[in-house]
Amino acid sequence: MTPRAVDLIRRKRDGGILEPSEIQWLIHGLGSGEVPDYQWTALLMAILWQGMNPEETEALTACMMNSGTIVDLSKIPGRKIDKHSTGGVGDKTSLVLAPIVAACGVPVPMVSGRGLGHTGGTLDKLESIPGFRIDLDIEGYQRVLEECGLVLIGQTRAIAPADKRLYALRDATATVESIPLITASILSKKLAEGIDGLVLDVKTGDGAFMQRLEDAQALAESMCRIGRGLGKDMVALITRMDQPLGKAVGNAVEVAECVRCLRGEGPTDLRDLSIALASEMLVLGRAARTLEEAKAMCFRVIHDGSALERFRRVVEAQGGDPKVIDDLTLLPLPKVLREIPSPRKGFVTNVLARPIGHAAMLLGAGRARAEDQIDHGVGIILNKKCGDRVHQGESLCTILSNGDDPALQEVTKLVSGAFEVGESPVEVPDLIVDRLEHSFQLFG
Ligand code: URA
Repeated sequence: MTPRAVDLIRRKRDGGILEPSEIQWLIHGLGSGEVPDYQWTALLMAILWQGMNPEETEALTACMMNSGTIVDLSKIPGRKIDKHSTGGVGDKTSLVLAPIVAACGVPVPMVSGRGLGHTGGTLDKLESIPGFRIDLDIEGYQRVLEECGLVLIGQTRAIAPADKRLYALRDATATVESIPLITASILSKKLAEGIDGLVLDVKTGDGAFMQRLEDAQALAESMCRIGRGLGKDMVALITRMDQPLGKAVGNAVEVAECVRCLRGEGPTDLRDLSIALASEMLVLGRAARTLEEAKAMCFRVIHDGSALERFRRVVEAQGGDPKVIDDLTLLPLPKVLREIPSPRKGFVTNVLARPIGHAAMLLGAGRARAEDQIDHGVGIILNKKCGDRVHQGESLCTILSNGDDPALQEVTKLVSGAFEVGESPVEVPDLIVDRLEHSFQLFG
């Protein structure tokens, strides 16, 4: 008997369980119009309040994934491994780790997103490279992966279309903050890429989507469990996003920082987190037996230049200007630099990620609404980070703007307020807070 949407909504509203076949019917009805948006939004609100058990979450993820194309990468040898970050400020590890992992022999098919609100997005950063195209079709995606060992694109209409529809409804109805819905949304897209394993970087802290550690742990646990249930190797690192990652926040400035990191120049927090995530990818990709072995491989491909060479190759293969790699001044540049001096001498005790990300967005480096245009040359460079000594009047950060920006006053206020300077030095806590693994037996 065909279910009735109203009965399923009522059951979920009252704390009941939906069967996999009912979830499949609901997702099918989203595409066909048989279950209209108003019923789906009521169901989303019921799920937000009542939750879903792992079986329901797995069924929802699988149905959303199957709503579009599942890319077949079986022709490309090796286990294909990707990384997903829940996002943050200055979070640019994808551009560092993807070429490293590819240079170590593990293919990295990466479908990324755009920035929204105070957080940046990999696609916006990549588009600051003149000519770089993120809108490859599935054939182009497979070809670049085969040629370069990595590919960096945006979500195509073919991948998980049900997520696109549902995310728009959730965004407009305050139903984003639900662990089963976030799990299904993220994994349906990632698992449709044709991967064998996924490493998650789940952020916690001031600049993170999940600010509280227990929420980040619950999301990581949910994603690992469901991914594993759907046959993928899963590892999650829970990492701090209290202060921005690295020193650059924006788009072109972040690409420049990634190129420097691939040249072996740091900054160390960006390098260390990228290598930690890359090492997990190499173990899931069966290129290394242990994380220590994997880490040594990562350092080797940075030092011998092969990781940077991979980045150059993918930039060229996706239409970008490869000369950028040797001459970072070919990236979009800001017109005006404004220094923010320290009001006193002492030690930086905090650099709050959220106001820095918000200020970068106001400058034009990010979007308040999905349709906003990005200014790729603007951003913020942190000259001091948590734990650094500072003299009175010394620059805490540099605002990169395009001159007559009416938001500059508010930006200055936000970034000045983001820095806390105290009398005594502070211990900077480890970036990695926790690690979860749900992988199938590795190496027999
Ligand atoms: N990012 C996604 O892709 N989906 C969510 O639900 C939340 C963050």
